Amino acid sequence: MLSREILEAHLRQPFRYYDSVDSTNDLAKHWLRAGAAAGSVVIADEQRKGRGRMGRTWHTPPGVALALSVIMKPTPGHAHQISLLGALAVAELCETLGIAHVGIKWPNDVQIQGKKVSGVLPEAVWENDALLGVVLGIGVNVRVDFDAELSAVATSIEPLVKHKLDRAELIATLLDSIQARLPKLGTDALFKDWKRRLNMLGEPVQVGDTAGIAQDVEPSGALLIQQADGSIQRVLAGDLLMTPPPSR
Ligand code: BTN
Repeated sequence: MLSREILEAHLRQPFRYYDSVDSTNDLAKHWLRAGAAAGSVVIADEQRKGRGRMGRTWHTPPGVALALSVIMKPTPGHAHQISLLGALAVAELCETLGIAHVGIKWPNDVQIQGKKVSGVLPEAVWENDALLGVVLGIGVNVRVDFDAELSAVATSIEPLVKHKLDRAELIATLLDSIQARLPKLGTDALFKDWKRRLNMLGEPVQVGDTAGIAQDVEPSGALLIQQADGSIQRVLAGDLLMTPPPSR
């Protein structure tokens, strides 16, 4: 369980903490519709039905991870930067802990030495045509026990710092970092911070059927892939695979 006392002592925003929920994103969306203030956050020790990108499941066993959903109320034109703000805040958290080789794999997986340590899931909530807000779901592996297969692609932060981490303190630091970056939402500065941390630009990649060199990203977040015939394909979303260069 997380320490409710530490959360109460350190969090500056309204929060709801649960020992076990289906998904913090679902509760945050409900709270947003019920009138939650911007910055309010739902935190859980365990998720029974955590959700990841592209309809996948996200595992949050008790005692070993961060699972939180921040309620944000951006102007609609800035909403597309919410997820990159989340990834940047997690990357910064890792670096504050002294962890090296932290990068972001497009679009917003935080990786350490090429292994995923965190994912973000932004979900917009609409009332008719009006954007009520965006729920920024963040999952971070702190001391998750991965099986052999997952260990090849996923990692946790605690083994890398070699001392016990308090998850409530990590959440407080993460939320402060999100709060500090909020004034930059929608700016070129935030886009550049994110772009600078991308670890796959210039590398061979594949997203769906599109394969080639990850050439650049646009301020919208779209990835530009240069295909073998030299043409540029613009990719808006998807799962990015780092691929070995083609053999000649
Ligand atoms: C991904 O697939 O990389 C995104 C994972 C997002 C997981 C977080 S954990 C807190 C919040 N609640 C959810 O159900 N999902 C997000």
